[in-house]
Amino acid sequence: MRFSDKIAVVTGAASGIGAETARLFAREGAIVFAGDIDEAGGAKLAAEAEGDIRFVPCDVTDPAAIEALMNAAAGVDGGIDILMNNAAAGGARANIDEIEPADWDMTMNLVLRSVALGIRYAVPHMKGRASTKNGGANIVNVSSVAAVGPGYAPTAYSVAKAGVLHLTKCAAADLAQFGIRVNAVQPGFINTNIFTASLDVPGEMKKLANAAIAQISSNAQPVRRGGQSADIAEAVAYLAGAGAGFVTGTSLIVDGGITLGPRHSWDPEEPGLFSALEKMEEDMKAKAGEAAPD
Ligand code: NAI
Repeated sequence: MRFSDKIAVVTGAASGIGAETARLFAREGAIVFAGDIDEAGGAKLAAEAEGDIRFVPCDVTDPAAIEALMNAAAGVDGGIDILMNNAAAGGARANIDEIEPADWDMTMNLVLRSVALGIRYAVPHMKGRASTKNGGANIVNVSSVAAVGPGYAPTAYSVAKAGVLHLTKCAAADLAQFGIRVNAVQPGFINTNIFTASLDVPGEMKKLANAAIAQISSNAQPVRRGGQSADIAEAVAYLAGAGAGFVTGTSLIVDGGITLGPRHSWDPEEPGLFSALEKMEEDMKAKAGEAAPD
């Protein structure tokens, strides 16, 4: 029971990574306040929980809703011990040369400002909870491998997730005086609904698309299986728990190695510069051999 007697808040908890982490926290003794815009999903999560999960409707683009979620969580035991800023979606899909200002703002509010305001409204309830026992008071922000560079997600989302990393460091510095640790996790390609959530197609078709994406993900990185929400939940549990009591301002990449390097660096089937050079050398030698007189 790594999280006995802890009050934890998880945003975006009705699905995927947030749901899995909320379940883990609750299984291991925490009272979990689960915020999400998906009221049916949130209610189902709470009803089926093995442990104490309490759903609070919360749109993380709305500052008042975030504040209300934190106040509700703090109402139980006078404070909050763990905050996981997880809610997000893919945001605007346009490239930088075509993005509309309103879509840029929408994505920043959803992916980056939500994290800043989550911290802003939770911290007044976290001060004074910073016992060094059992992990102390701490925050885990969900960034992404998209923060590492382009090519993993749309541009606005990637920029916002890079902002989440920098925010994590700045917040860790700001909040050290209160004994509050702040860290981030950077998931790779994880099988959740995020890829199909914004598709304008019926639910059944989304299921088919999710299955196709799961198939692609099983071979997309050096670890040859699809990433699962539980892989990220375990990383968050480490950062939020007693084992990470000396860890703050850092980020844990959990991506099956997808950011290690280009595919040819880890997949022997994939041609790269060096295998091309070897082939060239062989061809040249063969030609030279053919040309040489007997
Ligand atoms: P998901 O789509 O399964 O879950 C996201 C949850 O956030 C949903 O329950 C959704 O209703 C909720 N949400 C969306 N907008 C919201 C809002 N305005 N207010 C409150 N809740 C809202 O997606 P997943 O994959 O579990 O995403 C969780 C986090 O992981 C996100 O921050 C995402 O950017 C991040 N991530 C996911 C990756 C992946 O491959 N699945 C990779 C890297 C990062």
